[in-house]
Amino acid sequence: MPHNLLKNKKGIIFGALDNKSIAWKVAETVKEEGGDVILTNAPVAIRMGDIDKLGKQLDSPVIAADATSILELENLIQTALEHFKGKFDFVLHSIGMSLNVRKKRDYTNQNHEWTKKGWDISALSFHKLLQVLYTKDALNKWGSIVALTYIAAQRTFPNYNDMADNKAYLESIARSFGYFFGKNKKVRVNTVSQSPTRTTAGQGVEGLENFLNFSEKTSPLGNATASECAHYVVSLFSDFTRKVTMQNLFHDGGFSTTGVSQEIIEDF
Ligand SMILES: NC(=O)c1ccc[n+]([C@@H]2O[C@H](COP(=O)([O-])OP(=O)(O)OC[C@H]3O[C@@H](n4cnc5c(N)ncnc54)[C@H](O)[C@@H]3O)[C@@H](O)[C@H]2O)c1
Repeated sequence: MPHNLLKNKKGIIFGALDNKSIAWKVAETVKEEGGDVILTNAPVAIRMGDIDKLGKQLDSPVIAADATSILELENLIQTALEHFKGKFDFVLHSIGMSLNVRKKRDYTNQNHEWTKKGWDISALSFHKLLQVLYTKDALNKWGSIVALTYIAAQRTFPNYNDMADNKAYLESIARSFGYFFGKNKKVRVNTVSQSPTRTTAGQGVEGLENFLNFSEKTSPLGNATASECAHYVVSLFSDFTRKVTMQNLFHDGGFSTTGVSQEIIEDF
């Protein structure tokens, strides 16, 4: 049941590839809550994925931008400022990719060129995006920026491979840049640490199905779905969370603070 939480708010959503993407659900929920969005993804993802369909459904422009390219990010933010006729209110970074995971290279035997590429896409792109937003002074006072992350940044999950390091870096950027955005722009920057979710990126991780079951049985509230994540992200875009910044916020049904559940013990 919509609450008009984002009435008169507008922003940019990165990373909707298909209808399983967390970003896809966020874009739909933003619209339901009265907000307006521009959708963006890498050019190849726009060609291969379904984002144009979502653009039509939401009556939102789709603008291509490789998030590793400052030039393309500058073009995107400039176009957004023109489209919205001024500053906007929120941005979602929902981007992740590891070539080592994709090509099944173990953490102990990485191809470091692939590591660099994955780091650039999954982590450094967040700094590049924040820097362009900051320099162009693109966000309204009390705006909100969110990036998606995973608990492998804090605890070891062997199959998550180099994405664990990328997520640790991403979360650190949210704190470091969050200081300057808070102090000088009154804009908040947070990361949301989401439960494992069945999406294209999620399915790249080996043994995802078993892991989803383990996580489901460990979390007192069960795994959080992509739609539930979208609701949480919308609350962070809303005016009800104005003083929340530089945080890594777990949206995981209680997984992160559960040692072990009775169900898991009984499985042995
Ligand atoms: N699925 C999970 O289990 C899970 C759990 C926690 C966090 N996350 C995070 O959520 C975010 C979204 O992933 P998802 O699970 O919805 O999968 P997804 O595959 O639908 O989304 C990943 C997106 O990254 C985009 N992308 C890749 N390279 C890019 C580039 N160079 N420039 C711009 N965009 C690029 C892809 O096109 C895709 O849209 C990621 O940061 C992911 O790590 C996912």
